[in-house]
Amino acid sequence: MNQFKAAEWINARGKILLSAGVSALAALLFLSSPSRVQAVGAQPAGDADAGKVLFEKRCGGCHSLDTNKEGPALRHAYGGKAASVSTFKYSKALLSVGVTWDDASLDKWLTSTDSVAPENDMDFQVANATERSNIIRYLKTVAGK
Ligand code: HEC
Repeated sequence: MNQFKAAEWINARGKILLSAGVSALAALLFLSSPSRVQAVGAQPAGDADAGKVLFEKRCGGCHSLDTNKEGPALRHAYGGKAASVSTFKYSKALLSVGVTWDDASLDKWLTSTDSVAPENDMDFQVANATERSNIIRYLKTVAGK
């Protein structure tokens, strides 16, 4: 009887260790799987809904999505070349910069427009990184990218 109990105990303990081992292995495989890394990389940072609110509040005085104001219409900015709204009169600085607007270049632009195109005409910046990424996510969404 005692021997049986001991065997049962060892057996149960083995099962616990085994299942812990399997979970650890599964977690390891999950963490190191390239598809997971890709999924995270493909997921644009930022919250588009929060970005919309910020856009309207901070950018809306000079920009709208579909009409030029003091600044150009921005619906097609994300994914396109800088200064490509043909009906807007850009600065020479932005016309000649040749940047494509993506997460990285827009982040730089919104941090300091002069760091992208010195002497451009947009005198505005967004100091908060989370706010920048939300706004960029919003611009990406409205562009259908
Ligand atoms: C005070 C007015 C003003 C504000 C506020 C402003 N912008 Fe601008 N923006 C401009 C002007 C003017 C230009 C054109 C710059 C040039 O020609 O050098 C511009 C250009 C841009 C461009 C480049 C567009 C293109 O066609 O290449 C982007 C992107 C942009 N603004 C995003 C924003 C965002 C996002 C905000 C809000 C966080 C914002 N701007 C706030 C005036 C403003």
